[in-house]
Amino acid sequence: MGKHIQKKMLITGGAGFIGSHTVRRFVRSYPQYHIYNLDALTYAGNLENLKDIEGVSNYSFVKGDITDTRFISKLFATINFDGVIHLAAESHVDRSITDPLSFVKTNIFGTVNLLNASLDLIKHNKDFVFYHISTDEVYGTLGETGLFAETTPYCPNSPYSASKAGADHFVRAYGETYGLPYVISNCSNNYGPNQFPEKLIPLFINNIVNNKPLPVYGDGNYTRDWLYVKDHAVAIDLVFHEGRKGETYNIGGFNEWKNIELVKLLCGLMDKKLGRNKGTAEKLITFTKNRPGHDLRYAIDASKINRELGWKPSVTFEQGLEKTIDWYLENQEWLSNVTTGGYREYYSKQYHQLGK
Ligand code: NAD
Ligand code: DAU
Repeated sequence: MGKHIQKKMLITGGAGFIGSHTVRRFVRSYPQYHIYNLDALTYAGNLENLKDIEGVSNYSFVKGDITDTRFISKLFATINFDGVIHLAAESHVDRSITDPLSFVKTNIFGTVNLLNASLDLIKHNKDFVFYHISTDEVYGTLGETGLFAETTPYCPNSPYSASKAGADHFVRAYGETYGLPYVISNCSNNYGPNQFPEKLIPLFINNIVNNKPLPVYGDGNYTRDWLYVKDHAVAIDLVFHEGRKGETYNIGGFNEWKNIELVKLLCGLMDKKLGRNKGTAEKLITFTKNRPGHDLRYAIDASKINRELGWKPSVTFEQGLEKTIDWYLENQEWLSNVTTGGYREYYSKQYHQLGK
C-alpha cells in the first residue's frame, strides 16, 4: 500500500446494491484512502457491480462473512481500520418473512461481531468511527400524514426491520457502554442501477421486458419515499465525514409515491422505451395477496441532514427512473447473471406463495 494513504476504510456489503455505489464513490473521490470491501457474496452480492474499479490501487476486495467471529477478529487485528461503513445485511422484507433467523444472524449477530472487533481499534485510534447504514423501516408505519423524524420512536413491523432496529440499538449501546464513536443513518427506499431484481422497481422492469405478470401486493395503495441510489452514496460520504458522532440522520427523497401510481408510471415509460403500444405493460398488473405486516406508508423528514450537512437529492424521480430503466435495458446480461442459480428457485417458491 502506498505511503500517502491517510485512512484505511472498511466498507461491508460493498458488492451489493448501495454498497457498490458507496465503494465506487469512496475509491474514486478519496485516492488518499485505501478502501477494503468486505462481502460474503450472497445471492445479493455481485462483483460485476464493481468491474470498473477492479485493480485500482486504493481498492481491495476481501471475501468474508461478518458473522464469522474468528475471521472478523483476525481481519481487524491485521488491518487497523480508521473507519467502518457497515452496509452488509440481509435486505429484503419478503425473505425475512420466510426466513427470519438469517436476518437475526447477519443483521444483528454480524453487526455485533463488527462492533466487538471495533472496540480494539478505539484503544489506539481516537478518530475511529463506526457508521451503521440503516433503514427508515425501523420506525414502523405512518398513516396518511406525517413524516419520520430522528426522534420518532422505533416500532418495527417486519423481521427485517426488527433486525435492523436491533442492530441500531446495539450500535447506540456500544457508544454509551464502551464509548465507541458511531453514527447511524436511516434511509428510505433506494432505486437505481445494480439493484437485485427482487425489489419492486427492478423486478417490474425485468417482468415487463419478459411480458411476465406484475404482482402488486394488496390494493397497491402503499406509499414509499424513493431516493436515487447515487444521492444516497453522496449522503453517506457526508455523514461519514461531517456527521456529528453519536447522532442519527434520516435520509429520504422528498418523493412519495403510492405503489400503484409508481407502477403505472413505470409501465408508461417502459412502453415508450420498448416501442410497444401505450397500455401494453399495464395489462401485466396483477393484484396479489398482500405482504403480511405490510407497512402502509414511509416518508422521511430529511431536514436535519439538509440543515447540518447541506445534503439534498440532486436527481429528480423522472431523471432517476429513466436512467434506471436505460441501465437495466442496456445490462440484460447482468440481469440474467444475477438471476441464475438459487434465486430462481427462491423466486418461484415466493411467487407461488403470493397466491399465484
Ligand atoms: P443488498 O442486499 O443489495 O446487498 C447486501 C450486501 O451484503 C450483498 O453484497 C451481500 O453479499 C452482503 N452480505 C450479506 N450478508 C453478508 C454477510 N454475512 N457477510 C458479509 N456480507 C454479507 O442490500 P442493499 O439494498 O444494498 O442495502 C445495503 C444496506 O442498506 C443494508 O444494510 C440495508 O438494510 C440498508 N438500506 C437499504 C435500503 C434500500 O432501499 N435498498 C434503504 C435503506 C437502508
Ligand atoms: O424503506 C427502506 C427499505 O426499502 C429498505 O430498508 C429495504 O432494504 C428495501 O428492500 C426497501 O423495502 P420495501 O419493502 O419498501 O421494498 P420492496 O421493493 O420490497 O417493496 C416496495 C413496495 O412495493 C412495498 O410496499 C411492497 C410493494 N411490492 C414489492 C414487491 C417486491 C409489491 O407490491 N410487489 C412486489 O412484487
